[in-house]
Amino acid sequence: MQVAELSRKIVELKREQNAALLVHNYQRTEIQLLADYMGDSLDLARHSAKVGADLILLCGVNFMAETAAVLNPEKTVLIPDPEAKCPMAEQLSLEVLREAKKKHPDAAVVLYVNTLAEAKAEADVCCTSANAPQIVNALDEGEILFGPDKNLAWYVQRRTDKKIIPLPEDGYCYVHRIFSAADVALLKEKYPRAEVLIHPECDPEVQNLADHICSTSQMLVRAKASPAKQFIIATEIGMVERLRRENPGKEFMPVLETAICEQMKKHTLEKVYSALRDKKYVVKVPPEIAKKARAAIDRMLEISGRAARD
Ligand code: 13P
Ligand code: SF4
Repeated sequence: MQVAELSRKIVELKREQNAALLVHNYQRTEIQLLADYMGDSLDLARHSAKVGADLILLCGVNFMAETAAVLNPEKTVLIPDPEAKCPMAEQLSLEVLREAKKKHPDAAVVLYVNTLAEAKAEADVCCTSANAPQIVNALDEGEILFGPDKNLAWYVQRRTDKKIIPLPEDGYCYVHRIFSAADVALLKEKYPRAEVLIHPECDPEVQNLADHICSTSQMLVRAKASPAKQFIIATEIGMVERLRRENPGKEFMPVLETAICEQMKKHTLEKVYSALRDKKYVVKVPPEIAKKARAAIDRMLEISGRAARD
């Protein structure tokens, strides 16, 4: 089927089934264009907590779909390809987490949403790239077990007086790890007036070259608000496509065209169509894990919402 025909059928199925398409910023353009709601991890969690639809089709990676399922036990949450699994989310094992909790009994456990639900169930609170320092600074504890992304831990450490203990020691995103400071410096030389927007999953030397360190949706907000006409972007290429589409008068230079998250790209229009047609693949989190994970996610949403209101 052609893109236009498939897209039309997806819109029809969504209406028939009262389904909402929640789409992460890294998805393929043709999927982005069909989104009922598009955003970063925090936006998707927030939105899934209040969506009116009976069915949620989450076009993102497994931890995003699990978060939507945890927040919506009464709804069906689907993912177009169940193999869309964020490798970073698998880097924090329960064994390592439990061992660290034993070793640091007074520390709070703050986990990036890029974790599996079973790990979230062991956390005090979750965070995303959009709110990590704010979450950590809202806690009473002076010591924080923080995982799994080592670079996000580094970013938070520079914005808090608390002691951040990264868990595991070398958690990373393979997409953001490929950016180098030399690549960014080269682009800065070529476009001296460009603003540099960097995702906090990038290495410290890369973050040090940023004008702004942003979650994916924060990049969009900044690009729209900024007087700059040119931007150097260090994150996955899907975000660059959205930035270009929504800011036609501005220019966006990706640090690397090859920064592609293969797992995010597993979803295709065909798979979105068959997911809605066949009501697959249902995302399930065991109720006892969901209940505990929900407490950590709700606490994050509560702190984030409180700060937005202040
Ligand atoms: P954002 O929450 O900033 O969209 O990041 C999610 C992610 O997986 C980045 O790689
Ligand atoms: Fe996971 Fe990195 Fe892909 Fe984000 S870009 S989903 S952190 S592998």
